[in-house]
This record gives sequence, C-alpha cells and structure tokens, in this order.
Amino acid sequence: MTTILKLGGSVITDKDRAETLDDAALEAAAEAIGNALARGQAADLVVVHGGGSFGHVNASDHGVSTTQGSHDVAALHDIHGAMKALNGFVLSRLLAADVPAVPVHPLSAGARTGDGSLELNAAAVTTFLGEGFVPVLHGDVIAHEGAGVTIVSGDEIVTDLATALEADRIGLCSTVPGVLDGEDAVIERIDDYGAVESVLGASDSTDVTGGMAAKVRALLGLEASASIFGPEALEAFLAGERPGTTIG
Ligand code: IPE
Repeated sequence: MTTILKLGGSVITDKDRAETLDDAALEAAAEAIGNALARGQAADLVVVHGGGSFGHVNASDHGVSTTQGSHDVAALHDIHGAMKALNGFVLSRLLAADVPAVPVHPLSAGARTGDGSLELNAAAVTTFLGEGFVPVLHGDVIAHEGAGVTIVSGDEIVTDLATALEADRIGLCSTVPGVLDGEDAVIERIDDYGAVESVLGASDSTDVTGGMAAKVRALLGLEASASIFGPEALEAFLAGERPGTTIG
C-alpha cells in the first residue's frame, strides 16, 4: 500500500514572509507522520513538500516558472538552494519524530523534454521504499531541454510519482480543509473539473505553479483518488480515512 503525501508549502512555511518556517505546523505534521508510522499505518510512504515562502520568490525574481526557463546557473542555485534549505528543515523535523526520512532532490532525478513533459527517475524512490525509508521530495528546478531549467512543482511530482509507483493513496495537506465552494464550504467530492471551475480561484501569494485549480485538474487525471485536506486532518488521512475533498 503506497501512500504519497504532499505537505503544501503554505502549511509548513509562513507564505507571506520570505524564507520563514511555520515551525509549529511543520513539527505537528512531522509528529502526525511519526505517530502514524509507529501505529503501523501508511507503511510505504513518500513525502513531497512545496516551497511556500522558500523557492517561489526566488523563482519569480529570476523569471523562472514551470514553462519559462533560464540558463543562468546562479538562478538555478538560488532556487534550488532555497528549496534544499527548506528540505533540510523538513528532514530534521521528520527525523526528530522518528520518521526514517531521506532526501531525493528532483534536480538530480529527472528532466523535462522539449515539450515540457516531466521524466522523473523513480528508481531511488522505489528502492528507498522497499528498504523501509521514507523518501522526501520537493518542488525544485529541473533541466528542461531547450529551455535551461524550469520549475517542477510538488504537485507535479505527486502526480508523476502516483502513476510511476501505482500509488494507492494520495493526500494533499493544504492550509484549507478541502476544496471550497462559493460559500467556503468543503466540497466533498469532485469527479469533473467543469462542475467546479467557476469556484476555483487563484492563490493570492506569489505562487509560480498554479494554485488550487491546477491541483484539481492534475489529480482528476490520476488512476487513484486523491484527498485534499487541512493540517488538522493529516492524522485521519494517514489512518486510512478520506477527510476533506475526494478527487476522482
Ligand atoms: C514550489 O513547489 C517549487 C519552487 C518554486 C521552486 P510547489 O509549487 O509545490 O510549492 P507550494 O506547495 O505551492 O508552495
């Protein structure tokens, strides 16, 4: 039973203050994961985290997005360095919660072809899983044929790995308790993008990778269904429940 969990960047960082961790939220998430593993839940777990106030600002400063590339090696190191710094914090909190977390940096594990499609080598992830580790990936810069480097979002890594690993469960832990309708109530199920398109607004902080609409669209394309939920529901998700919004 393979579970892929994304910790949204805005959950684990203060998205409105440059390179600032939300340490209480990160520690709570790490603890929820540690508790679940200690109870024998979520046995084959992959964690992916976003950037929040790490990475997005660097990317937009350098004019780099998922489609807009750069050949500037300093820009590459600036964006990757910010994401690696955040990854270091995530790893340290997970390790403190007894989660056998190991980093897998997308920069060195894949590339985009000229048409922008992502080719991620999942060998490290599958082998780490098989050996009892918890691979931890993150949004990153990635080599892009003909464009230098572009951004790969955590969401894109989640959807790519979900297919490659034939994941059974996919969870996106976000700052909101699910996908919200026009009255801010959680939509329980989404099977069709057209039905929710009008209520899916764009994220208000600097987000170079697309917000809720892009998330929902990508998740609808997957074999397994996915859950979008808030931090308070992380434990329930890891215990096998389907909190928040179920997609697909
Ligand atoms: C951001 O990853 C990656 C970079 C900007 C380098 P995500 O797009 O997955 O981050 P969040 O979760 O939306 O913050």
